[in-house]
Amino acid sequence: MTISKHWCGEHLVLMVAPIDQLPSTVYPGEEGLVATMTLTRRREFVATRHLARLALHEMGEPPAPIPWGAAGEPRWSTEVVGSLSHAREIAAAVLSKRQFCRSVGVDIDDGRQLDERSSRDLMTEREIDSVRGCLGLDEEGARRWVFSAKEAIYKCQYPATSWADLNFEEVEILAAPENDEDLRVELRRENRDWAKVFAQMNINTYHFQQVSVVVVRLPPVDEDV
Ligand SMILES: CC(C)(COP(=O)(O)OP(=O)(O)OC[C@H]1O[C@@H](n2cnc3c(N)ncnc32)[C@H](O)[C@@H]1OP(=O)(O)O)[C@@H](O)C(=O)NCCC(=O)NCCS
Repeated sequence: MTISKHWCGEHLVLMVAPIDQLPSTVYPGEEGLVATMTLTRRREFVATRHLARLALHEMGEPPAPIPWGAAGEPRWSTEVVGSLSHAREIAAAVLSKRQFCRSVGVDIDDGRQLDERSSRDLMTEREIDSVRGCLGLDEEGARRWVFSAKEAIYKCQYPATSWADLNFEEVEILAAPENDEDLRVELRRENRDWAKVFAQMNINTYHFQQVSVVVVRLPPVDEDV
């Protein structure tokens, strides 16, 4: 697998690649960010940002350093939204323009085992059943997918809500009542201002040989209902 570029619809570009096939040179302006990193961490940092700048190029946007905000979120120019993920040997970046997308989150499912015991506090049996039904996964696959999707949900919601301590059990991914082939995201805590934001999330999974990547996106603000 080399660098894979996938347009998720017209306006959202997803780049996925093995880290060892990407340049390891630190981008000008990011030297201070990597100064105290281990070699492995530096490689994943450099790799995801390289993919992000390829995505910027695809979108006709200029390259730029990509620092962090207060909660570790990647910072973009005002026109751009994006999200990054790295897992073992793979890096992924997904980007769009703010006019088309309020926020986006990405997570790589690297195939790591997640058994019933270790996932008990992270998801409900109802979620696992919904996901199995909608995506046709076995139980182990459904657990892994829910975990990965929740990481992507977290990354997508943070720029919109600044909710840094959102926990796994506060969010549920369920089959939509009107069409049980669709999944929707529900906030389990009642009367939260942000319930509408979660309800608007759209989740998709993309497959690249040995890895699956979950992408969660929010519509632009002017499409809020
Ligand atoms: C932040 C978090 C989502 C990262 O996910 P991960 O699977 O551990 O790691 P990944 O490699 O996939 O993603 C790392 C990238 O996430 C991004 N990220 C970190 N914090 C973020 C935030 N608050 N908002 C958006 N993106 C964030 C960063 O770009 C980071 O890469 P970088 O440090 O190289 O820039 C995860 O560690 C975490 O803390 N989760 C909180 C609990 C949670 O997920 N709850 C689910 C609620 S539904």
